[in-house]
Amino acid sequence: MSHDDQILFRTATDSDWDALKLLISTGFGFHPSENDATMMRALHSPENIVVATDGGVPVAMAVGFDMEFTVPGGHQVPTRGITWVSVAPTHRRRGILRSMFEKLHETITASGAPLAALTASDAGIYGRFGYGPATVEEQITFDRRFARFQADVPDPGGVSIVDARTAAATLPDIYDRWRLLTPGAQQRPTAHWDRTFAESADDKNGGSALFFLTHADGYVAYRHNYDGSENVVKVSQFVAITPQAYAALWRALIGLDLVTRIEVNQHPDDPLRLLLTDYRSVRTKSRTDHLWLRIMDVPAALQARDYAADLDTVIEIDDPYLDAGGTFRLRVRDGRATCTPTDASPQVTMASDVLSALYLGTHRARTFASAHRLRATDSRAVDAVDAAFSVDRPAVLGYGF
Ligand SMILES: CC(C)(COP(=O)(O)OP(=O)(O)OC[C@H]1O[C@@H](n2cnc3c(N)ncnc32)[C@H](O)[C@@H]1OP(=O)(O)O)[C@@H](O)C(=O)NCCC(=O)NCCS
Repeated sequence: MSHDDQILFRTATDSDWDALKLLISTGFGFHPSENDATMMRALHSPENIVVATDGGVPVAMAVGFDMEFTVPGGHQVPTRGITWVSVAPTHRRRGILRSMFEKLHETITASGAPLAALTASDAGIYGRFGYGPATVEEQITFDRRFARFQADVPDPGGVSIVDARTAAATLPDIYDRWRLLTPGAQQRPTAHWDRTFAESADDKNGGSALFFLTHADGYVAYRHNYDGSENVVKVSQFVAITPQAYAALWRALIGLDLVTRIEVNQHPDDPLRLLLTDYRSVRTKSRTDHLWLRIMDVPAALQARDYAADLDTVIEIDDPYLDAGGTFRLRVRDGRATCTPTDASPQVTMASDVLSALYLGTHRARTFASAHRLRATDSRAVDAVDAAFSVDRPAVLGYGF
């Protein structure tokens, strides 16, 4: 066992890739395919990777990279993403993640990005660093054989089955139109698409190669998984820009006659249950946090999004990790906000992770008040924040990272 003062931190170099791959596979319990490795190298340059070494050997890593997220109102906000955080099992719980985060957050603060983003392997880790769960994902399943549409659900058609080559030429533009409207969705790099369309046997998780359905305003990518008794379709991407595309794509998917069950990940307000005659036929297998956000710059982040109601309040944000909090007057008129530091007494007080969880509208101020994590001078102050922060388009993370 080594001593902590032997742990050194540096940025990665090109010669570290094999060691980094080993850290990732050991940390996350899977062997990255050649396609995964190619994508990782294309997306992340070594100077954006923090490495911890012990005796010169890499024992931990964390990657920072630039992203662009849509926030309520369809505005684009520069965001710094954090990914591939892995500490060797031989070196855990001695502060290496904390030290790597200090270095990453110095860079994020210097970049001026109003938001930082990550996805969490464990929901207990990142609240202490000011991150809050900003989107929620449900995995649902239903027996396709008994699925019937409500009588008034349209059958608009317009769906085509296409091969991977046509999908590669079609999907990125549709995704881009969708993500510019959808809070929580991010720009998707070309290397990510290349990884989607250049699958090897290792990439398929035991299922078939991807199949594609396209519509002028949406698409579905899915796999067949045969487990010996059942033919299950697992949807890996379902993108619909309009309600017509949504209904048309579901009609096509439910038309897959030889399939027993369909599984798909959705946001909690997804209308599929309401489309079908048997509400209970759709079962939620799991519900979990997906995107985690951290507000790095309170005024810049709060002025970047639109709001659903006028507001005039004073908020106090407690941010012990980065000291980026303070007391701010937040005024909203006609959907747009001004947010400025003030000496006035706060009407609403919360920690940075709570503000970050409210930011995309997935969680409600009232719910956090009920959980004693948002405090206010009176309930009208909570109601006013709740109404202003609510959204008409549910937040969805564009792709996992
Ligand atoms: C999660 C992981 C990165 C933590 O690394 P680590 O170096 O052991 O973490 P640290 O010792 O720096 O811990 C920092 C803080 O987080 C807490 N923490 C660490 N892992 C935690 C976990 N899984 N759940 C809850 N808290 C956790 C520590 O208790 C510590 O708290 P404190 O400083 O407030 O007292 C490491 O266990 C790992 O690589 N796991 C496998 C891969 C993974 O899950 N990566 C994260 C991807 S999002």
